[in-house]
Amino acid sequence: MDKTQIVKTLRWQDEADTQAFAQDLASRPALRMATLELQGDLGAGKTTLVRHLLRALNVQGRIKSPTYAVVEPHQGTTPEGALDIWHFDFYRFNDPREWEDAGFRDLFASPGLKISEWPEQARAILPTADLSIHLQVLDDDARLATLSARTPLGEALLA
Ligand SMILES: Nc1ncnc2c1ncn2[C@@H]1O[C@H](COP(=O)(O)OP(=O)(O)OP(=O)(O)O)[C@@H](O)[C@H]1O
Ligand SMILES: [Mg+2]
Repeated sequence: MDKTQIVKTLRWQDEADTQAFAQDLASRPALRMATLELQGDLGAGKTTLVRHLLRALNVQGRIKSPTYAVVEPHQGTTPEGALDIWHFDFYRFNDPREWEDAGFRDLFASPGLKISEWPEQARAILPTADLSIHLQVLDDDARLATLSARTPLGEALLA
């Protein structure tokens, strides 16, 4: 069932626009307990958006793509305090037992920000995201972003 409540489309002309969006999102207190999912083709800009978001949340050091590990944990900060962040990439996820075995259920139940790339690879077990972001390549640097709020918290993020 589609639980979409609000949909917004944005056109990002270049990566600086993507970064500006990430910075705006990072400034919203509701993000501290949000679940985000990022969809779009290979190279659409999902990890790039996450990297800008993590930097805006004051994550230090190298930000690895979690493609092989499935999840990379990070520690950020916002004016409200320290923030636990988990960045998932389900592209190679194909064994649902890993969900329990790797403790993903517990991570999704923990306070903090959870971000998933390729959620469609784990659709049967992933909890509903508050905000779904779909990226589409328009040309080398331009992207069309479709933002869908699927919960009241997601609506707060788009307001
Ligand atoms: N406006 C933009 N927003 C985001 N990325 C952009 C933009 N313009 C150009 N890019 C470039 O597009 C590429 C996007 O790669 P990225 O790894 O973020 O894609 P992805 O969606 O995570 O792919 P994958 O599904 O393989 O993980 C990067 O090289 C980035 O610099
Ligand atoms: Mg990626």
